[in-house]
Amino acid sequence: MYVCNCNGIRERDCRAAIDHGARRPADIFRHCQAEAQCAKCVCDMRRMIQEQDQAMKLAAE
Ligand code: FES
Repeated sequence: MYVCNCNGIRERDCRAAIDHGARRPADIFRHCQAEAQCAKCVCDMRRMIQEQDQAMKLAAE
């Protein structure tokens, strides 16, 4: 499934970027060698980062 239609960034690309330390949507764009264009995907990227943070916090407990 595509998260960013402008750049063809898939959900799995976002997850790989987050696994490699992306903490902001800008980090995901950088990891994917892309740039924000319409920025409609930024909210979804932030949600994915937050979900990963929550999962890490739960795993650490
Ligand atoms: S959908 Fe990602 S920049 Fe447009």
